[in-house]
Amino acid sequence: MASTSKVALITGGAAGIGYAVAAMLATKGWLVNIVDIDQEKGVVAASIGATFYKADVRDYHSLRNAFDDTMKRHSRLDFVFANAGITDPRNFYEAQTSTLPPEPSLALLDINLKGAVTCTYLAQYYFRLCKQGSQLADFDPTLVIMSSIAGLEVYSPIPLYTAAKHGLVAFARAIATPFKESDGIRVSCICPGPVFTEKRKPSDADRLDMVPMETVCNVVSELISPGGGFGRCLRVLSTGISDV
Ligand SMILES: NC(=O)c1ccc[n+]([C@@H]2O[C@H](COP(=O)([O-])OP(=O)(O)OC[C@H]3O[C@@H](n4cnc5c(N)ncnc54)[C@H](O)[C@@H]3O)[C@@H](O)[C@H]2O)c1
Repeated sequence: MASTSKVALITGGAAGIGYAVAAMLATKGWLVNIVDIDQEKGVVAASIGATFYKADVRDYHSLRNAFDDTMKRHSRLDFVFANAGITDPRNFYEAQTSTLPPEPSLALLDINLKGAVTCTYLAQYYFRLCKQGSQLADFDPTLVIMSSIAGLEVYSPIPLYTAAKHGLVAFARAIATPFKESDGIRVSCICPGPVFTEKRKPSDADRLDMVPMETVCNVVSELISPGGGFGRCLRVLSTGISDV
């Protein structure tokens, strides 16, 4: 028997934007499932009544297990937020000529790009399963992919981040129509400017270009609402929100 409450699964939901969206949905009565690599931060999930799954979005089986267990417990899945991502402090430009170049770390691409793609692949399967197995009148499967303003503009100091986030914009646009036509899944992506999270320096709070967390939550809330549309790519800046 499917749960009467809507069910969300959020990657990178133990902190920052993912956590803020998780807390917002929990307040609205959603059953929230947080998938995160950080077990310690995961305990915060309990404080908002969410279920925590320790999983690395690079590890297919642990991610699939989180989706699978969520479906087994609730027999429905309504919203997936492919949000997990990192910034990489390493300098891509610093190769020394005195030694052979060591293998570069491409973890950022594995987490930010491949992790979101894998999450999307699983979301498609479990949304489809949910559609086939239940007759939910309010079933409106929605996937939101977290890109960044770096997915729309070029940031030369952070080329891997820029590449991953551009890739996600293109990926979300590519799948939006097939997902909608085959299974009614609404896919959109969001591209925020800098958002104030606990990782930011306190002095950043005074920066005029910081996007309030509430703004990002409101954008996600709009996308999962019945009129939220699909195939949208939203630039979310402190100066305003616009479809790109
Ligand atoms: N904060 C910003 O200014 C900003 C702006 C635009 C886009 N974004 C994007 O928003 C997303 C969230 O960013 P944030 O600022 O909230 O970051 P954050 O570091 O505060 O939170 C990210 C969460 O993802 C988790 N995570 C990291 N690697 C993971 C992995 N391999 N598997 C599972 N979970 C993992 C972390 O443990 C953490 O809980 C990222 O994709 C980021 O690129 C952030």
